[in-house]
Amino acid sequence: MNDEFGESDAPKRGGRGGKTEVGHVAVLLQEAIDFLAIRRGGTCIDATLGWAGHSYEIARRLGAPGHLIGFDKDPAALGRAAVSLQPSAVSEGDWPTVTLLHGSFAELANDQRPATIDGILADLGVSSLQLGDPGRGFSFQAEGPLDMRMNPMSGETAEQVVNHIDERELADVIYEFGEERRSRRIARAIVRSRPIRTTTQLVEVVSAAARPMNWKHERIRIHPATRTFQALRIFVNRELDDLKALLEAAPRVLKPGGRLVVISFHSLEDRIVKDALRDGAKQGWYQVLTKKPMTAAEEEIDRNPRSRSAKMRAAERV
Ligand SMILES: C[S@@+](CC[C@H](N)C(=O)[O-])C[C@H]1O[C@@H](n2cnc3c(N)ncnc32)[C@H](O)[C@@H]1O
Repeated sequence: MNDEFGESDAPKRGGRGGKTEVGHVAVLLQEAIDFLAIRRGGTCIDATLGWAGHSYEIARRLGAPGHLIGFDKDPAALGRAAVSLQPSAVSEGDWPTVTLLHGSFAELANDQRPATIDGILADLGVSSLQLGDPGRGFSFQAEGPLDMRMNPMSGETAEQVVNHIDERELADVIYEFGEERRSRRIARAIVRSRPIRTTTQLVEVVSAAARPMNWKHERIRIHPATRTFQALRIFVNRELDDLKALLEAAPRVLKPGGRLVVISFHSLEDRIVKDALRDGAKQGWYQVLTKKPMTAAEEEIDRNPRSRSAKMRAAERV
């Protein structure tokens, strides 16, 4: 288990080169760019724009003849990325065509044009900006409405989920997407405490129910609400289904020699990516470039605590 919602996941301050003014710091930036092996004039997809830290570096390398296509489910991220990805005086006219799409990267599954893409990057999960905005309800560290939708314009909120699905299904969600052994106890406590409206209320209920079964064997000390929050977020945003759709589409849309790079933040995602690349290699579609997933160096983890649970895998379309 990692700790995507770690206590020290605070937004950082920085300038260009993967950093936004105050906010999300791009994880494994140089490593991801190296694996993408971006060619001037190519077409690349940033499946998860966020605050465009990765996209900015991709765009610089594509140059004027290139094309950058970016997805984000979150209109706020998209607005922010649109500003970051405007050609500026620094780019001196050498800037690619940029197409920003509001929606899930799973929509790539509907793109029937084969082999037009040179690189796909997916940096999964939520950004520090989303996590740091109490109004979005992603964090157990701040009082806010229980929303958790990356796209606040569609789908059920976490509040609807915790208050309406039956206890057994809720326990399954918490177990499957949070890998939480105390899922049944937690689901029972949630159902008894309904209605639950805020993150703080949910944290209190879960913390009381999720006391470790055996402190001696609790190897990694994480906040007791970590797994439940992760589970609800994954469920609300259909994160694993979207990831599978992206991985299924990737070998079809990538050109021979095109690269797929995926950065994940918990074991459920990483397992799906690992299996997809291994199966793709067996089919003769991929050469896997990362035998083991690449992780952040100590120095990056010190600078950006969110990077400590990042795992990056990459493959080249054969
Ligand atoms: C970790 S952040 C990406 C940060 C980005 N690489 C940067 O450097 O700023 C993930 C972003 O992907 C978006 N996202 C997550 N899943 C998505 C999906 N299935 N489709 C589109 N966007 C998604 C989130 O809304 C969030 O803005």
